[in-house]
Amino acid sequence: MTPNDLEAFWMPFTSNRAFKKRPRVVASAKDMHYFTPDGRAILDGCSGLWCTNPGHNRAPIVAAIQKAAGELDFGPTFQFGHPGAFRLASRIAELAPGDLDHVFFCNSGSEAVDTALKMAIAYHHATGNSSRTRLIGRERGYHGVGFGGISVGGMVANRRTFGTMLTGVDHLPTTYDRKNQAFTKGEPEYGAHFADELERIVGLHDPSTIAAVIVEPMAGSTGVIPAPQGYLKRLREICDKYGILLIFDEVITGYGRLGHAFAAERYGVQPDLITFAKGITAGAVPMGGVIARKHVHDAFMKGPEHMVELFHGYTYSAHPLACAAGIATLDLYRDEDLFARAKALEPYWADAVMSLKDKPGVLDIRTVGITAGIDLPAREGLPGQRGYEAIERAFHEEGVMIRTAGDTVVMTPPLIISNEQVDELIGKVGRVIEKVM
Ligand SMILES: Cc1ncc(COP(=O)(O)O)c(C=O)c1O
Repeated sequence: MTPNDLEAFWMPFTSNRAFKKRPRVVASAKDMHYFTPDGRAILDGCSGLWCTNPGHNRAPIVAAIQKAAGELDFGPTFQFGHPGAFRLASRIAELAPGDLDHVFFCNSGSEAVDTALKMAIAYHHATGNSSRTRLIGRERGYHGVGFGGISVGGMVANRRTFGTMLTGVDHLPTTYDRKNQAFTKGEPEYGAHFADELERIVGLHDPSTIAAVIVEPMAGSTGVIPAPQGYLKRLREICDKYGILLIFDEVITGYGRLGHAFAAERYGVQPDLITFAKGITAGAVPMGGVIARKHVHDAFMKGPEHMVELFHGYTYSAHPLACAAGIATLDLYRDEDLFARAKALEPYWADAVMSLKDKPGVLDIRTVGITAGIDLPAREGLPGQRGYEAIERAFHEEGVMIRTAGDTVVMTPPLIISNEQVDELIGKVGRVIEKVM
């Protein structure tokens, strides 16, 4: 089972040369664990890539995919449809807050982001405001790897080698300020005022040029940065004042990660568009999508009825296997009440993670929902090296899978994690921190 030639696979977001010298390979998974080809159990501290919220290889999801594969291999969704696509869209619309009630499908978070950005610009075109094309992202934001996503994103390494990207983009400042926020559980009290920077950006560009603001309710990929209290409400108010669409990128925060179906609910803020991916199918089949509010969708529904209203879509939008996996995953969230479980677990999780505060070198710890970021100092002249060593040691020596963002250790385990497994994970990560410092 162990691959004997690692060369051909150019691995994504991977230190290929280091990995291939000492590979970390998983061959199967169940519930909270991965298993290596030689059968060693690895406790999953990051839900794969923030995907497997209900745990791995859950029987109802596996069964639904197997059944679907035998029924309909592929069903086009351009000018045709299949039952699973309509059923899943209705289920997502039912779950989403307020009048977020139309669902557009694609295959990844990156595609979801590009779809939402295009929808926002096309919405203004459809409503007679075609000068509104400018997109506003945020420093330290991650919105996938399409040209749209890296343009509004704010991670330097994801931008600097890819040319000019989209023009007409500006960025809000990050909401992170260690001096005033360090070691906060949940949303920090300090920082709502970072939203006011949008007023400055509007003043610079004029509202008549701005289509949308896109933010993650909790910035995940740059090391777990929860929104400050009141920040997202303030962004919503400023967007309303100037007719700007607000997009929440919920690729990570959707489907229970913050104890609700969507973070929009946790914060009581209604965005105009929500992007999702990952947790919708528990990672079992690629899928992403955008949920649009009624007024956004309805703006397109005009003109001759034989006309295509939005010239956008992917061959695999609403693929039958993904739809089957999505419906089964939503059933599982409901039947096991997993969003409420995550909410109930949050205080225990936060206390457990914060117990690492006094480990050597720890500069800050942030938690929100079932996520955590632990900042370690970079080694002199070698940023990210300590983080990489932490991943290696965690996997090979402690039997846990963690992620890092530079030298920040990130944990986002499946929502089914037990208190004992939380203790096990934190104990092991604590030892890893001691070893790499
Ligand atoms: C907030 C956010 N948006 C978009 C993406 C991109 O998703 P994908 O890797 O499925 O393209 C991610 C991935 O982690 C994400 O965290």
